Amino acid sequence: MRRRVIAGNWKMFKTQSETRAFFSAFAPLVGSSTNCDIVIAPPFTAIPAAVEVAKGTNIAISGQDVFWEKDGAFTGEISANMLVEAGCRYVIIGHSERRQFFGETDETVAKKTKAALAAGLTPIVCLGELLSHREAGQTHHICKSQFTGGVAALTADEFSRILIAYEPVWAIGTGRTATPEIASDVHRFLRQCAAERFSAAHASALRILYGGSVKPDNIQGLMAQEELDGALVGGASLDAKSFATIVSFA
Ligand code: 13P
Repeated sequence: MRRRVIAGNWKMFKTQSETRAFFSAFAPLVGSSTNCDIVIAPPFTAIPAAVEVAKGTNIAISGQDVFWEKDGAFTGEISANMLVEAGCRYVIIGHSERRQFFGETDETVAKKTKAALAAGLTPIVCLGELLSHREAGQTHHICKSQFTGGVAALTADEFSRILIAYEPVWAIGTGRTATPEIASDVHRFLRQCAAERFSAAHASALRILYGGSVKPDNIQGLMAQEELDGALVGGASLDAKSFATIVSFA
C-alpha cells in the first residue's frame, strides 16, 4: 500500500507573517491526521518561518525549485544544501509555471532532481500536457517524452526516492479539474513508463500525485481512485480550513 501525500504549493503567495498565521490555524486542524504525509511549499523567504512553526508537527516543508550546482556565481539561485540547511525535506521540480515562464526543460529537471537527491531532499517532479496536446490526442505522448527526457535519467535507486506529480496544464488555476478517470488513466500510463524504464517493483512503489484545481469539493472523488497517491494543491492550500479538509480525505 502506497502512503498518500498531500502537498500544498503556495507559489508566490504569503509573507512570513502570513505564513505564521496560516500555521497557527492549520496545524491544530491536521494534528491528529496520520493517514497521509503533509507537505507545504512556501516561497523561499518564508521557509525559515514555516520550518520554525512546523517544528513538532506532522507537516514537512518543501522548496518550490532548486538549482543543480552546489554553489557559485549564479545570481538568484538556491542550492539543495541551502534548502536542507533551512529545514526543507522536499522540493518541487519542473512545475509547469517554471517550464512556461522560466525556461525549465526536461534536461534541467533531470539535473535538479539528481542534485536534490544527492542532498537528501525528496523531489516532487512535475509533468503534464497542455490543452492543445490533450485536444490533439497527444497526452500520453507528451507525458512519456517528459518522463523519458527527465526522470528516466535517474538510476533505479534515485528513482525509488522521488515523487511524481501529474499536473495537466489546462487544469492548473482554471477551476477545470481533470475527472478522476482522466487522472487515473495518465497515472496508470506513467506507472507503465516507470515499469518499462526501471522495473515492475519500482512502478508499483512509485507515488504519483495529481495536481490541477484540487478543491475540498472534488478531493473525495479523486482520492477514490486507487491510482492517485495524493495531490499537489495550489490555490486551495492557501486557506487553512480548505487545505485541512483536503488532507482529511486523503
Ligand atoms: P491549483 O490547485 O491552483 O490549480 O494549482 C495547481 C498547481 O499548480 C499545484 O502545483
